[in-house]
Amino acid sequence: MQELKGLILSGGRGTRLRPITHTSAKQLVPVANKPVLFYAIEAMAQAGIDDVGVIIAPETGDEIRAAAGDGSKFGVKLTYIVQDDPLGLAHAVLTAEPFLGQSPFVMYLGDNLLQGGIEDLLAAFQEHGPDALILLTPVPDPQNYGVAELSDGAVVKLVEKPAQPATDLALVGVYMFTAAVHAAARAIKPSARGELEITDAIQHLVDRGLRVEPHIVRGWWKDTGRLEDMLAANQLVLDTIVGHVEGELIDSQVDGRVVIEQGARLERSAVRGPAIIGAGARLINCYVGPYTAVGEGCTIENAEVEHSILLAGATVRDLDGRMEASLLGRNVKIGRDHRQPRAYRFLVGDNSEIGIL
Ligand code: DAU
Repeated sequence: MQELKGLILSGGRGTRLRPITHTSAKQLVPVANKPVLFYAIEAMAQAGIDDVGVIIAPETGDEIRAAAGDGSKFGVKLTYIVQDDPLGLAHAVLTAEPFLGQSPFVMYLGDNLLQGGIEDLLAAFQEHGPDALILLTPVPDPQNYGVAELSDGAVVKLVEKPAQPATDLALVGVYMFTAAVHAAARAIKPSARGELEITDAIQHLVDRGLRVEPHIVRGWWKDTGRLEDMLAANQLVLDTIVGHVEGELIDSQVDGRVVIEQGARLERSAVRGPAIIGAGARLINCYVGPYTAVGEGCTIENAEVEHSILLAGATVRDLDGRMEASLLGRNVKIGRDHRQPRAYRFLVGDNSEIGIL
């Protein structure tokens, strides 16, 4: 068999995570203080796939290149492939065809998180030699995903985001393909949302009698496209961390599994894990509760924060109530304003959401 390559899809628009993705690629939003995309690259590295293409969009590509670099820090070689327009996952495959050539490949959606890596799947792919291997998992809201129908363990039908799903089996954003997928991607027509759907390309393989092997995911899986998914992913990853304290604790206490990164400083504060406090963060007279990821250089003062993600440089000050289930973008400032007249004063970007007590 030809050498297996990797393809990570990190283009697209990220409309569902706006406003965070107005200024930044959705694949770089951190989960437990690490960009989602890095988990995909690490999964490739762990499975021994060292030749990895990364699909990027013209608008956010530079930021992704700057973050992931040439891949050497992950032990892989990254080749960036610009997709001029986000015309669908199958279009991304066609865009990557010169890179992929005739090689079989693992395709990993750059906003997906899959527990347990891809080594088992790779082994099954190599052992059984199907034309494609797909991952499925039951979900409560299948209408938001590609949905599969199986019969006697074989894939019979795949539909992208059906209004009336036939099953609750969602297509997970990790796939394995042989070069047969290129002809399928060329044969299909754009869907109602104007995209060349990978789901339709796989259906095309099924229709031509090629072998598409389904696997049910055993661990957890998250598509981090929406706020609630981001928070859930953050929770799942934080549940696996091993605590260690490198920063400075002054009259402060940490309970449970807590990571305090270098240069972070806690004064008169309490952190209850699982939680991570990024490098250089300042926590003063505050409480940080479970499932919170505080990014680099953040400040939290006289406030309580729980089950939230704070991106680098965010500041939270003097809150009366506890902040929870929140995602703050880079350098966002939330605080009490002591000026007169007493009033709420906001400077908030498009599509932001604010809930006040
Ligand atoms: O997350 C799993 C789901 O992913 C599957 O169940 C669906 O069958 C599959 O179509 C896909 O659905 P989404 O609507 O969630 O895909 P999204 O547009 O979010 O794109 C997934 C990733 O691929 C994301 O990192 C952006 C990137 N992308 C997307 C498009 C449309 C590209 O790189 N190029 C593109 O043209």
